[in-house]
Amino acid sequence: MREQGQQEAQRQLMIIEQCKERIAALTREAGRPLTYHISTFGCQMNFKDSEKLAGILEQLGYVETDTEEADFVLLNTCTVRENANQKVYGHLGILKSYKKKNPHMMIALCGCMMQEELVVAKLRESYRFVDIIFGTHNIYKLAELIQTRLESKGMVIDLWQDAKEIVEDLPSVRKYSFKAGVNIMFGCNNFCSYCIVPYVRGRERSREPEDIIHEIEEMVSQGVVEVMLLGQNVNSYGKTLEHPISFAELLQRVEQIEGLKRIRFMTSHPKDLSDDLIEVMKNSEKICRHMHLPVQSGSSRLLEKMNRRYTKEHYLELVHKLRTAIPDISLTTDIIVGFPGETEEDFEETIDVVRKAEYDSAYTFIYSKRTGTPAATMENQVSEDVVKERFQRLLDVVAECSAKRTGRLEGETVEVLVEGISEQDASMVTGRLSNNLLVHFKGDESLIGSLCMVHLDQAKGFYYIGTKAD
Ligand code: SAH
Ligand code: SF4
Ligand code: F3S
Repeated sequence: MREQGQQEAQRQLMIIEQCKERIAALTREAGRPLTYHISTFGCQMNFKDSEKLAGILEQLGYVETDTEEADFVLLNTCTVRENANQKVYGHLGILKSYKKKNPHMMIALCGCMMQEELVVAKLRESYRFVDIIFGTHNIYKLAELIQTRLESKGMVIDLWQDAKEIVEDLPSVRKYSFKAGVNIMFGCNNFCSYCIVPYVRGRERSREPEDIIHEIEEMVSQGVVEVMLLGQNVNSYGKTLEHPISFAELLQRVEQIEGLKRIRFMTSHPKDLSDDLIEVMKNSEKICRHMHLPVQSGSSRLLEKMNRRYTKEHYLELVHKLRTAIPDISLTTDIIVGFPGETEEDFEETIDVVRKAEYDSAYTFIYSKRTGTPAATMENQVSEDVVKERFQRLLDVVAECSAKRTGRLEGETVEVLVEGISEQDASMVTGRLSNNLLVHFKGDESLIGSLCMVHLDQAKGFYYIGTKAD
């Protein structure tokens, strides 16, 4: 497998070289640099993929621009909920008008939505102006697809049902110089009954720990101080490798990388959260004091229908263990309202968990029916009015709980990673606390990417105002 991945990477690097010449010729013809723009929808995995896609486009000679009025536009799509899907059609309408003005423009679509046959059929039928369509398993082939498009007249479509080898070491650009996402695994095997991700991202595959460590070491040598380890269920990392290794063990190895200061990860699935992991977090100097632990519902009855494989009691037990071991940890979650068959009692169980878990914040979603998932054909789909009313009640309780949590660090001096100039006030910078909250304090550009101690003067809802302490 590994050799195949390396061979494929070599082949793609060669194609990039060939394709580069084509793009150089087109650039000369145009008399100006050719521009690209990537619009990314969805989760961290997609944002990471977009960095890889941008890496290839830049190698080819395209220059990034911040509007979709570009020579090469790529929409990296998400289909986790229907509204994510709708957004893409909205963008396509606008892109069509841009292409009328710039007939050489190329429009490409990739990502999770493209893994759905019905979507691609619709695009083929009614969106003929799209040039390239590919999916989630073959993003490393972008240069080859562009080359094929330049040599052919019609739409180029390349979709794979599942992934083949993991292709390492292709170019990538990073949005930030000091923090980076690192894929540790791809796909998902959990098949939560409402969720489309396993169908569009394929089976779970873990990267070899050596490849992960090597990538992080490289990043650190380039100035990265914080990494976010990415996977749909990081807690089951390594189980399918030839030499299995647990996520807790991986974290311990990452911790040893010299020069790396902070480690984050997402997403954790409660069913696989081990005592070992809690222990490793507790003793770690580098793992941030934050865990995103999606609960989805507080009703054990619904959790079973969702195929989440834990109960309300088990989940609350995990929360208790985490808070006991790591008292300053901040917890966030995802919640779905209106899963088929959700009764008032089920919903109240969810509210109960929110109160008991005392989340710092929660991402709340209205259940969206995804064709092909088991939940889509379940009986008793909840009416829109009922869902809306419950959703509002949930938002109120979440706001009430997070208000209780905010401000608890007021008066303390904590270490923050400075991420940029504050959006509200150019004389201030914005730093991120270990627990993922933000603080704004006086400072300038020179601090970006550094860790500094900041006194948290005042809590303002979801952020603090502070003063640099060293
Ligand atoms: N792998 C992660 C979540 C990935 S999807 C996990 O298991 O926790 C991100 C979130 O989208 C999920 O946690 C869930 O809350 C939400 N989601 C997924 N499918 C959905 C659907 N059909 N309708 C509404 N929300 C959904
Ligand atoms: Fe979807 Fe469940 Fe996999 Fe998360 S764990 S991506 S919710 S199937
Ligand atoms: Fe969306 Fe795909 Fe992520 S469906 S949430 S972009 S894995």
